[in-house]
Amino acid sequence: MIESSQTPQTIQIGPRRLTSRFFLAPLAGYTHLAFRVMLRRLGGLGLATTDLVQGQMLISETRKSMELVATSPEDRPLTVQIFSGVTDQLVAAAKWLEDRDYEAIDINMGCPMAKVNGSGGGARLMCNTDGATEMVGRVIDAVELPVTVKMRLGWDRENLTAPQLAAALENIGVAAVTVHGRTREQGFGGSVNRDGIRQTVDAVSSMPIVANGDVRTPEEAFSMIEETGCAAVAIGRGAMLDPWIFRKLQDMECGRTATEPSAEEQIQFLSDHFHQMREQHGDYSCMLFRKFAAWYGVRLGVPEDLEDRLRRFESATEFDELVGQIRQRHGQRECQIPTALIRVPNGPVEHW
Ligand SMILES: Cc1cc2nc3c(=O)[nH]c(=O)nc-3n(C[C@H](O)[C@H](O)[C@H](O)COP(=O)(O)O)c2cc1C
Repeated sequence: MIESSQTPQTIQIGPRRLTSRFFLAPLAGYTHLAFRVMLRRLGGLGLATTDLVQGQMLISETRKSMELVATSPEDRPLTVQIFSGVTDQLVAAAKWLEDRDYEAIDINMGCPMAKVNGSGGGARLMCNTDGATEMVGRVIDAVELPVTVKMRLGWDRENLTAPQLAAALENIGVAAVTVHGRTREQGFGGSVNRDGIRQTVDAVSSMPIVANGDVRTPEEAFSMIEETGCAAVAIGRGAMLDPWIFRKLQDMECGRTATEPSAEEQIQFLSDHFHQMREQHGDYSCMLFRKFAAWYGVRLGVPEDLEDRLRRFESATEFDELVGQIRQRHGQRECQIPTALIRVPNGPVEHW
Protein backbone atom coordinates (compact mmCIF):
# COMPACT_ATOMS: atom_id res chain seq x y z
CA MET A 1 0.00 0.00 0.00
CA ILE A 2 1.19 3.52 -0.69
CA GLU A 3 1.96 5.70 2.29
CA SER A 4 -1.09 7.48 3.53
CA SER A 5 -0.87 11.15 2.67
CA GLN A 6 -3.61 12.28 5.09
CA THR A 7 -5.51 13.94 2.25
CA PRO A 8 -6.95 12.19 -0.76
CA GLN A 9 -5.03 13.01 -3.93
CA THR A 10 -6.89 15.16 -6.39
CA ILE A 11 -6.48 14.89 -10.14
CA GLN A 12 -6.95 17.37 -12.97
CA ILE A 13 -8.72 16.15 -16.11
CA GLY A 14 -9.28 18.94 -18.61
CA PRO A 15 -10.88 21.81 -16.70
CA ARG A 16 -12.14 19.55 -13.92
CA ARG A 17 -10.32 19.01 -10.66
CA LEU A 18 -11.56 15.72 -9.26
CA THR A 19 -11.39 15.12 -5.54
CA SER A 20 -10.44 11.46 -5.79
CA ARG A 21 -8.31 9.46 -8.24
CA PHE A 22 -10.60 6.44 -7.98
CA PHE A 23 -13.26 6.33 -10.69
CA LEU A 24 -16.19 4.13 -11.64
CA ALA A 25 -15.69 2.26 -14.94
CA PRO A 26 -18.89 1.95 -16.98
CA LEU A 27 -20.70 -1.39 -16.85
CA ALA A 28 -23.60 -1.26 -19.29
CA GLY A 29 -26.77 -2.34 -17.55
CA TYR A 30 -25.44 -1.79 -14.02
CA THR A 31 -23.82 1.63 -13.60
CA HIS A 32 -27.03 3.53 -14.35
CA LEU A 33 -28.09 6.72 -12.64
CA ALA A 34 -29.48 5.03 -9.52
CA PHE A 35 -26.33 3.04 -8.85
CA ARG A 36 -24.07 6.03 -9.49
CA VAL A 37 -26.04 8.18 -7.06
CA MET A 38 -25.91 5.44 -4.45
CA LEU A 39 -22.12 5.17 -4.80
CA ARG A 40 -21.68 8.92 -4.59
CA ARG A 41 -23.62 8.99 -1.32
CA LEU A 42 -21.19 6.48 0.17
CA GLY A 43 -18.28 8.84 -0.64
CA GLY A 44 -14.85 8.65 -2.24
CA LEU A 45 -15.90 8.37 -5.88
CA GLY A 46 -13.87 10.74 -8.09
CA LEU A 47 -15.69 10.37 -11.41
CA ALA A 48 -18.41 8.26 -12.99
CA THR A 49 -19.12 7.56 -16.64
CA THR A 50 -22.44 6.60 -18.18
CA ASP A 51 -22.93 3.33 -20.04
CA LEU A 52 -21.93 3.59 -23.68
CA VAL A 53 -24.48 5.34 -25.89
CA GLN A 54 -24.53 4.94 -29.66
CA GLY A 55 -23.99 8.32 -31.35
CA GLN A 56 -26.88 8.10 -33.80
CA MET A 57 -29.28 6.86 -31.10
CA LEU A 58 -28.34 9.83 -28.97
CA ILE A 59 -28.97 12.46 -31.61
CA SER A 60 -32.22 10.70 -32.52
CA GLU A 61 -33.12 10.90 -28.82
CA THR A 62 -34.38 7.32 -28.64
CA ARG A 63 -36.02 6.37 -25.36
CA LYS A 64 -33.19 3.99 -24.45
CA SER A 65 -30.45 6.57 -25.10
CA MET A 66 -32.33 9.21 -23.09
CA GLU A 67 -32.46 6.77 -20.18
CA LEU A 68 -28.73 6.19 -20.50
CA VAL A 69 -27.82 9.89 -20.34
CA ALA A 70 -30.36 10.67 -17.59
CA THR A 71 -28.61 12.40 -14.72
CA SER A 72 -29.28 14.60 -11.68
CA PRO A 73 -27.45 17.41 -9.85
CA GLU A 74 -26.22 14.84 -7.34
CA ASP A 75 -24.73 12.74 -10.16
CA ARG A 76 -21.54 14.82 -10.59
CA PRO A 77 -18.85 14.79 -11.81
CA LEU A 78 -20.10 12.79 -14.77
CA THR A 79 -18.78 11.91 -18.22
CA VAL A 80 -21.03 10.59 -20.98
CA GLN A 81 -19.56 7.78 -23.06
CA ILE A 82 -20.41 7.65 -26.75
CA PHE A 83 -19.42 5.30 -29.55
CA SER A 84 -19.75 5.08 -33.30
CA GLY A 85 -17.66 4.03 -36.27
CA VAL A 86 -18.94 7.09 -38.17
CA THR A 87 -17.13 10.34 -37.42
CA ASP A 88 -20.06 12.62 -38.26
CA GLN A 89 -22.25 10.74 -35.81
CA LEU A 90 -19.68 11.09 -33.04
CA VAL A 91 -19.31 14.80 -33.74
CA ALA A 92 -23.08 15.33 -33.76
CA ALA A 93 -23.45 13.35 -30.53
CA ALA A 94 -20.71 15.42 -28.88
CA LYS A 95 -22.43 18.65 -29.91
CA TRP A 96 -25.76 17.32 -28.69
CA LEU A 97 -24.17 16.75 -25.28
CA GLU A 98 -22.49 20.14 -25.19
CA ASP A 99 -25.75 21.91 -26.09
CA ARG A 100 -27.40 20.23 -23.12
CA ASP A 101 -24.75 21.19 -20.59
CA TYR A 102 -23.12 17.84 -20.03
CA GLU A 103 -19.62 18.23 -18.61
CA ALA A 104 -17.41 15.84 -20.54
CA ILE A 105 -17.33 13.24 -23.30
CA ASP A 106 -15.63 9.86 -23.37
CA ILE A 107 -15.19 7.96 -26.63
CA ASN A 108 -15.33 4.18 -26.43
CA MET A 109 -12.50 2.32 -28.15
CA GLY A 110 -12.59 -0.73 -25.91
CA CYS A 111 -15.89 -2.48 -26.48
CA PRO A 112 -15.28 -5.99 -27.88
CA MET A 113 -18.87 -6.71 -28.93
CA ALA A 114 -19.51 -7.56 -32.59
CA LYS A 115 -22.44 -5.18 -32.93
CA VAL A 116 -20.16 -2.30 -31.86
CA ASN A 117 -17.01 -3.45 -33.72
CA GLY A 118 -18.95 -4.44 -36.87
CA SER A 119 -19.83 -0.80 -37.55
CA GLY A 120 -16.21 0.24 -36.97
CA GLY A 121 -16.68 1.45 -33.38
CA GLY A 122 -15.34 0.24 -30.02
CA ALA A 123 -12.09 -1.75 -30.02
CA ARG A 124 -12.07 -1.88 -33.84
CA LEU A 125 -10.83 1.73 -33.80
CA MET A 126 -7.56 0.56 -32.23
CA CYS A 127 -6.66 -1.25 -35.47
CA ASN A 128 -6.23 2.03 -37.32
CA THR A 129 -4.54 4.46 -34.97
CA ASP A 130 -4.29 7.25 -37.57
CA GLY A 131 -7.98 6.95 -38.41
CA ALA A 132 -8.93 6.82 -34.71
CA THR A 133 -6.83 9.89 -33.95
CA GLU A 134 -8.37 11.81 -36.82
CA MET A 135 -11.85 10.87 -35.65
CA VAL A 136 -11.22 12.02 -32.09
CA GLY A 137 -9.59 15.19 -33.46
CA ARG A 138 -12.79 16.04 -35.30
CA VAL A 139 -14.74 15.70 -32.04
CA ILE A 140 -12.24 17.87 -30.16
CA ASP A 141 -12.47 20.55 -32.85
CA ALA A 142 -16.26 20.55 -32.69
CA VAL A 143 -16.77 21.06 -28.95
CA GLU A 144 -15.30 22.93 -25.99
CA LEU A 145 -15.98 20.05 -23.60
CA PRO A 146 -13.06 17.91 -22.45
CA VAL A 147 -12.80 14.70 -24.47
CA THR A 148 -11.37 11.49 -23.03
CA VAL A 149 -10.97 8.02 -24.58
CA LYS A 150 -11.38 4.55 -23.11
CA MET A 151 -9.44 1.80 -24.83
CA ARG A 152 -7.97 -1.66 -24.44
CA LEU A 153 -4.28 -2.51 -24.90
CA GLY A 154 -4.97 -3.30 -28.54
CA TRP A 155 -6.86 -5.67 -30.83
CA ASP A 156 -4.72 -8.73 -30.05
CA ARG A 157 -1.29 -9.54 -28.64
CA GLU A 158 0.40 -8.84 -31.99
CA ASN A 159 -1.16 -5.39 -32.11
CA LEU A 160 -0.67 -3.66 -28.75
CA THR A 161 -1.42 -0.20 -30.08
CA ALA A 162 -2.42 1.53 -26.82
CA PRO A 163 0.95 3.31 -26.19
CA GLN A 164 1.17 4.64 -29.74
CA LEU A 165 -2.49 5.65 -29.83
CA ALA A 166 -2.43 7.30 -26.39
CA ALA A 167 0.62 9.37 -27.41
CA ALA A 168 -1.11 10.48 -30.62
CA LEU A 169 -4.28 11.37 -28.70
CA GLU A 170 -2.29 13.41 -26.19
CA ASN A 171 -0.86 15.43 -29.09
CA ILE A 172 -4.31 16.42 -30.33
CA GLY A 173 -5.56 17.48 -26.90
CA VAL A 174 -7.35 14.48 -25.42
CA ALA A 175 -7.76 15.17 -21.68
CA ALA A 176 -7.17 11.61 -20.39
CA VAL A 177 -7.11 8.00 -21.56
CA THR A 178 -8.43 5.01 -19.65
CA VAL A 179 -6.74 1.70 -20.48
CA HIS A 180 -8.34 -1.66 -19.72
CA GLY A 181 -5.24 -3.86 -19.56
CA ARG A 182 -6.55 -6.56 -21.89
CA THR A 183 -6.72 -6.92 -25.66
CA ARG A 184 -9.95 -7.28 -27.56
CA GLU A 185 -8.90 -10.86 -28.32
CA GLN A 186 -8.83 -11.58 -24.59
CA GLY A 187 -12.38 -10.42 -24.04
CA PHE A 188 -12.73 -10.64 -20.27
CA GLY A 189 -10.50 -13.72 -19.94
CA GLY A 190 -6.86 -14.13 -19.01
CA SER A 191 -5.15 -11.64 -16.79
CA VAL A 192 -4.70 -7.89 -16.92
CA ASN A 193 -1.34 -6.91 -18.38
CA ARG A 194 -0.17 -4.19 -16.01
CA ASP A 195 3.09 -3.97 -17.91
CA GLY A 196 1.14 -2.95 -21.01
CA ILE A 197 -0.59 -0.21 -19.00
CA ARG A 198 2.83 0.93 -17.73
CA GLN A 199 4.07 1.18 -21.32
CA THR A 200 1.11 3.39 -22.14
CA VAL A 201 1.89 5.61 -19.14
CA ASP A 202 5.51 5.83 -20.34
CA ALA A 203 4.43 6.74 -23.87
CA VAL A 204 2.69 9.99 -22.88
CA SER A 205 4.21 13.07 -21.32
CA SER A 206 1.61 14.59 -19.01
CA MET A 207 -1.84 13.35 -20.02
CA PRO A 208 -3.36 11.32 -17.16
CA ILE A 209 -3.66 7.59 -17.82
CA VAL A 210 -6.44 5.89 -15.90
CA ALA A 211 -5.65 2.20 -15.34
CA ASN A 212 -8.45 -0.33 -15.40
CA GLY A 213 -9.03 -4.02 -15.01
CA ASP A 214 -9.63 -6.58 -12.26
CA VAL A 215 -9.25 -4.21 -9.31
CA ARG A 216 -11.39 -5.76 -6.58
CA THR A 217 -9.91 -4.43 -3.34
CA PRO A 218 -8.32 -1.19 -2.10
CA GLU A 219 -4.96 -3.00 -1.97
CA GLU A 220 -5.26 -3.92 -5.64
CA ALA A 221 -6.08 -0.30 -6.49
CA PHE A 222 -2.94 0.93 -4.73
CA SER A 223 -0.77 -1.76 -6.30
CA MET A 224 -2.16 -0.80 -9.73
CA ILE A 225 -0.89 2.75 -9.13
CA GLU A 226 2.48 1.53 -7.92
CA GLU A 227 3.06 -0.93 -10.73
CA THR A 228 1.82 1.15 -13.65
CA GLY A 229 2.51 4.73 -12.55
CA CYS A 230 -1.05 5.61 -13.59
CA ALA A 231 -2.68 8.84 -12.44
CA ALA A 232 -6.00 7.24 -11.50
CA VAL A 233 -7.75 3.88 -11.34
CA ALA A 234 -11.16 3.01 -12.80
CA ILE A 235 -13.03 0.23 -11.01
CA GLY A 236 -15.98 -1.54 -12.66
CA ARG A 237 -16.95 -4.99 -11.41
CA GLY A 238 -15.08 -4.37 -8.17
CA ALA A 239 -17.52 -1.54 -7.41
CA MET A 240 -20.46 -3.86 -8.00
CA LEU A 241 -18.96 -6.48 -5.72
CA ASP A 242 -18.14 -3.89 -3.05
CA PRO A 243 -19.86 -0.50 -3.46
CA TRP A 244 -17.99 0.64 -0.33
CA ILE A 245 -14.62 0.31 -2.11
CA PHE A 246 -14.39 4.05 -2.89
CA ARG A 247 -15.20 5.02 0.67
CA LYS A 248 -12.57 2.56 1.88
CA LEU A 249 -9.98 3.99 -0.52
CA GLN A 250 -10.76 7.50 0.67
CA ASP A 251 -10.41 6.43 4.30
CA MET A 252 -7.08 4.75 3.58
CA GLU A 253 -5.74 7.77 1.70
CA CYS A 254 -6.66 9.93 4.68
CA GLY A 255 -4.84 7.58 7.04
CA ARG A 256 -8.03 6.17 8.54
CA THR A 257 -8.86 2.50 8.91
CA ALA A 258 -11.25 1.34 6.23
CA THR A 259 -14.30 -0.26 7.76
CA GLU A 260 -16.75 -2.78 6.41
CA PRO A 261 -20.39 -1.65 6.22
CA SER A 262 -22.67 -3.01 8.93
CA ALA A 263 -25.49 -5.36 7.93
CA GLU A 264 -28.01 -2.54 8.52
CA GLU A 265 -26.03 -0.23 6.25
CA GLN A 266 -26.07 -2.87 3.52
CA ILE A 267 -29.80 -3.47 3.90
CA GLN A 268 -30.42 0.29 3.74
CA PHE A 269 -28.28 0.39 0.57
CA LEU A 270 -30.42 -2.39 -0.93
CA SER A 271 -33.62 -0.50 -0.14
CA ASP A 272 -32.36 2.91 -1.27
CA HIS A 273 -30.95 1.47 -4.49
CA PHE A 274 -34.35 0.13 -5.51
CA HIS A 275 -36.23 3.30 -4.54
CA GLN A 276 -33.65 5.40 -6.37
CA MET A 277 -34.28 3.31 -9.49
CA ARG A 278 -38.00 3.73 -9.00
CA GLU A 279 -37.67 7.50 -9.19
CA GLN A 280 -36.38 7.11 -12.75
CA HIS A 281 -38.16 4.01 -14.01
CA GLY A 282 -41.39 3.76 -11.98
CA ASP A 283 -42.88 0.26 -11.75
CA TYR A 284 -40.54 -1.03 -14.49
CA SER A 285 -37.76 -0.83 -11.89
CA CYS A 286 -39.11 -4.05 -10.29
CA MET A 287 -38.02 -5.92 -13.39
CA LEU A 288 -34.76 -3.98 -13.74
CA PHE A 289 -33.81 -4.53 -10.13
CA ARG A 290 -34.23 -8.31 -10.14
CA LYS A 291 -30.80 -8.92 -11.63
CA PHE A 292 -29.28 -7.52 -8.45
CA ALA A 293 -31.15 -10.09 -6.31
CA ALA A 294 -28.46 -12.77 -6.34
CA TRP A 295 -25.80 -10.23 -5.50
CA TYR A 296 -27.62 -8.81 -2.49
CA GLY A 297 -28.73 -12.29 -1.52
CA VAL A 298 -25.21 -13.65 -1.25
CA ARG A 299 -23.75 -10.48 0.20
CA LEU A 300 -26.29 -10.28 3.00
CA GLY A 301 -26.55 -14.00 3.60
CA VAL A 302 -30.25 -13.85 2.77
CA PRO A 303 -32.03 -17.24 2.99
CA GLU A 304 -32.71 -18.69 -0.44
CA ASP A 305 -36.50 -18.35 -0.27
CA LEU A 306 -36.13 -14.58 0.25
CA GLU A 307 -33.54 -14.26 -2.51
CA ASP A 308 -35.92 -16.13 -4.78
CA ARG A 309 -38.69 -13.65 -3.97
CA LEU A 310 -36.28 -10.77 -4.61
CA ARG A 311 -35.84 -12.27 -8.06
CA ARG A 312 -39.57 -12.22 -8.74
CA PHE A 313 -41.13 -9.31 -6.81
CA GLU A 314 -43.66 -7.22 -8.69
CA SER A 315 -44.37 -4.08 -6.71
CA ALA A 316 -42.72 -1.57 -4.41
CA THR A 317 -45.01 -2.69 -1.58
CA GLU A 318 -43.85 -6.29 -2.01
CA PHE A 319 -40.24 -5.09 -2.12
CA ASP A 320 -40.59 -3.11 1.13
CA GLU A 321 -42.20 -6.09 2.80
CA LEU A 322 -39.28 -8.26 1.61
CA VAL A 323 -36.76 -5.79 3.01
CA GLY A 324 -38.54 -6.06 6.37
CA GLN A 325 -38.08 -9.83 6.27
CA ILE A 326 -34.44 -9.48 5.20
CA ARG A 327 -33.85 -7.25 8.24
CA GLN A 328 -35.02 -10.11 10.44
CA ARG A 329 -33.44 -13.02 8.63
CA HIS A 330 -30.18 -11.82 7.02
CA GLY A 331 -27.13 -13.84 7.99
CA GLN A 332 -29.11 -17.08 8.08
CA ARG A 333 -27.15 -18.24 5.06
CA GLU A 334 -23.38 -18.23 5.18
CA CYS A 335 -22.31 -14.71 4.18
CA GLN A 336 -19.62 -14.33 1.56
CA ILE A 337 -18.59 -11.78 -1.02
CA PRO A 338 -19.84 -12.96 -4.41
CA THR A 339 -17.26 -13.16 -7.14
CA ALA A 340 -19.00 -14.22 -10.31
CA LEU A 341 -22.38 -12.58 -10.38
CA ILE A 342 -21.71 -10.06 -13.12
CA ARG A 343 -22.16 -11.89 -16.36
CA VAL A 344 -19.59 -11.24 -19.05
CA PRO A 345 -19.93 -12.57 -22.58
CA ASN A 346 -18.17 -15.92 -23.07
CA GLY A 347 -17.30 -18.31 -25.88
CA PRO A 348 -15.01 -17.31 -28.78
CA VAL A 349 -14.71 -13.51 -28.94
CA GLU A 350 -15.36 -13.60 -32.73
CA HIS A 351 -18.96 -14.68 -31.98
CA TRP A 352 -19.81 -11.90 -29.47
C1 LIG B 1 -21.31 -6.12 -18.12
C2 LIG B 1 -20.24 -5.15 -18.59
C3 LIG B 1 -20.60 -3.99 -19.25
C4 LIG B 1 -19.61 -3.09 -19.70
N1 LIG B 1 -19.99 -1.93 -20.31
C5 LIG B 1 -19.04 -1.04 -20.72
C6 LIG B 1 -19.40 0.20 -21.33
O1 LIG B 1 -20.58 0.53 -21.51
N2 LIG B 1 -18.38 1.03 -21.71
C7 LIG B 1 -17.05 0.71 -21.51
O2 LIG B 1 -16.17 1.48 -21.86
N3 LIG B 1 -16.70 -0.44 -20.92
C8 LIG B 1 -17.65 -1.31 -20.51
N4 LIG B 1 -17.27 -2.45 -19.87
C9 LIG B 1 -15.85 -2.66 -19.55
C10 LIG B 1 -15.54 -2.12 -18.16
O3 LIG B 1 -15.71 -0.71 -18.10
C11 LIG B 1 -14.11 -2.45 -17.73
O4 LIG B 1 -13.22 -1.93 -18.69
C12 LIG B 1 -13.87 -3.95 -17.59
O5 LIG B 1 -14.97 -4.59 -16.97
C13 LIG B 1 -12.60 -4.23 -16.76
O6 LIG B 1 -12.64 -3.55 -15.53
P1 LIG B 1 -13.17 -4.22 -14.17
O7 LIG B 1 -12.41 -5.50 -13.97
O8 LIG B 1 -12.88 -3.19 -13.10
O9 LIG B 1 -14.64 -4.50 -14.33
C14 LIG B 1 -18.24 -3.37 -19.46
C15 LIG B 1 -17.89 -4.55 -18.79
C16 LIG B 1 -18.87 -5.44 -18.35
C17 LIG B 1 -18.46 -6.67 -17.60
